[in-house]
Amino acid sequence: MTTPSGTSADRVTESLLAFWAEAGVDAMLLEEPVDRIAAGRIAPPQPARPVAAAPPARPGPARASGPDVSAAVAQAQAAAAAAQDLDALAAAIAAFEGCPLRYEGAARQAVFYRGRADAELMVVGEGPGAEEDVQGAPFVGRAGKLLDRMLAAAGLGERVFITNTVFWRPPGNRTPTPAEQAVCAPFVERAIALVKPQMLLLVGGASAKAMLKKDEGILSMRGRWFEWRPADAKVELPAMPTLHPAFLLRQPAAKKRAWADLMTVTERLDRPARPA
Ligand code: URA
Repeated sequence: MTTPSGTSADRVTESLLAFWAEAGVDAMLLEEPVDRIAAGRIAPPQPARPVAAAPPARPGPARASGPDVSAAVAQAQAAAAAAQDLDALAAAIAAFEGCPLRYEGAARQAVFYRGRADAELMVVGEGPGAEEDVQGAPFVGRAGKLLDRMLAAAGLGERVFITNTVFWRPPGNRTPTPAEQAVCAPFVERAIALVKPQMLLLVGGASAKAMLKKDEGILSMRGRWFEWRPADAKVELPAMPTLHPAFLLRQPAAKKRAWADLMTVTERLDRPARPA
């Protein structure tokens, strides 16, 4: 039977599409990768301009086994190093053309940060999702609302700077690749240098692995303290991996573990500094 709004097959298709859109799948991916450089949508990587005292390109698994992103990493390092405050860093990220995610179809805009510029705690998630892509701020969708409720309940709501390992939405909400994370890492490091948080909360496995350069699962890393170091290893900061709120939405029973992690972080933040 047909109705003014179409056949029942149309309605089934519409409802299936609505289901996938609700789940965050709103980009069509092809089986085979598209070479957008050959297609002319992305300029081929340019040799990095020489920069005085630029730190060495970050070593890591992305460069060992993935595509060679060293030129893009060097460009990101130069752009990040030149940014003297968060506004300049935001502008540098928005202008940066070296991250392929920027051109992957899903990304509408760069998503950098929200929260306090002088936060004690920096929260680093994986990458922006659909809602973040629309609003231009990290963790503003369903998972972000849960994160906010948990941070507020732990007394951390007004003490955080929130960002991600990549600044453009991966299509279909897939996990960002190590290469994409390596290209964005100089900007994350610069944000840490400018904000000067006392510690990091690494939200989700893709964040914890990239930031700590470890290949462990999040279930074994969460709840333990690690030392985060930038590529030049000149500073170190305590870093706590925890479960991603999107995982907690699917597995509410795991919330108690994420809550325990937040309590551990709060306790360390509020611990009186030992006299020097
Ligand atoms: N998930 C993330 O890891 N980051 C966001 O900003 C949103 C969802």
